Amino acid sequence: MKPSCKRKQRKSVLFEASWGSIEVASFNLPLRVLRIAIAGDLHGSWFPHDHALLMKLNPDGVLFVGDLSDGDIGILKAIIKIPIPTLVILGNHDRGHDHSGELIKTQMKLLGQRDCGWKLGKWNLPEISVVGARPFSAGGGYYLSPEVVAAFGEVSLEASVQRIVSAASKVPQDAPLILLAHSGPSGLGSEASSPCGRDWKLPSIDWGDKDLMIAIDKIRKIKRPDLVVFGHTHHQLRRNLGYRSTFAKDIWGTAYLNAACVPRRGRDSSGEHLTHFSWVEFKDKELKHVSHRWFRSDASLAYEERLLDN
Ligand SMILES: [Fe+2]
Repeated sequence: MKPSCKRKQRKSVLFEASWGSIEVASFNLPLRVLRIAIAGDLHGSWFPHDHALLMKLNPDGVLFVGDLSDGDIGILKAIIKIPIPTLVILGNHDRGHDHSGELIKTQMKLLGQRDCGWKLGKWNLPEISVVGARPFSAGGGYYLSPEVVAAFGEVSLEASVQRIVSAASKVPQDAPLILLAHSGPSGLGSEASSPCGRDWKLPSIDWGDKDLMIAIDKIRKIKRPDLVVFGHTHHQLRRNLGYRSTFAKDIWGTAYLNAACVPRRGRDSSGEHLTHFSWVEFKDKELKHVSHRWFRSDASLAYEERLLDN
């Protein structure tokens, strides 16, 4: 059963007439807590029990940060069957190995409105706006692979920034704004353990996307993004370096969440299977909660790492 997540707000209504205005009625409006589940890099790990778990959790929206697979259409067919508002940004692994760009186009066509790469997401959750960053990114500043060039043509860094900013310029001022990316922005640190740090070889450097960083700076002048969600740089670090820092907040109040828990499967001490989702909640149009959650198959919460809880 979905937890109780509504509280009542008393609202007055003024009736205006030529002789003045009077309060004629008052009623209670529910203020919803909006709950968003975020699936980190799947890398092929999406099965019927994931769908069943998601149905039990019943969030208000679902986000996928990409690297669903290496071009397996079957996973996309499963994702488009999710009857909850869902948006997807595709990652570098989703390019597959098709240099013609046709596999990219096929996946985008299959996702339809669920694909929000370089555009404002269209989903049945108007209380939250989602803008997609550059799709199929492999991080590392700015680089377009041959597959991406084949599908989209040459797109300069400046043009990519403009696409993201243009999409964000269409969002309403009074709704929270999430930026959905595969690779996070540059500027979040250059350690291996930084949210977008390169851990797989030395030297450790900032592996974030420059176009996204510039876009965020420009979008902030229109409307401050509440949250930037991304994947790509996995939580568990290579070279036995431990685990990555997965959450940050900048001086302007924008939160950054790395959702790339890979593998997204685990077991508790009794051997029961657990599944990871990152989890965010908005209340009164503000980001109130960010966590990594591990669920049992019955949707009970086995473990939670709280990153923000206002
Ligand atoms: Fe990736």
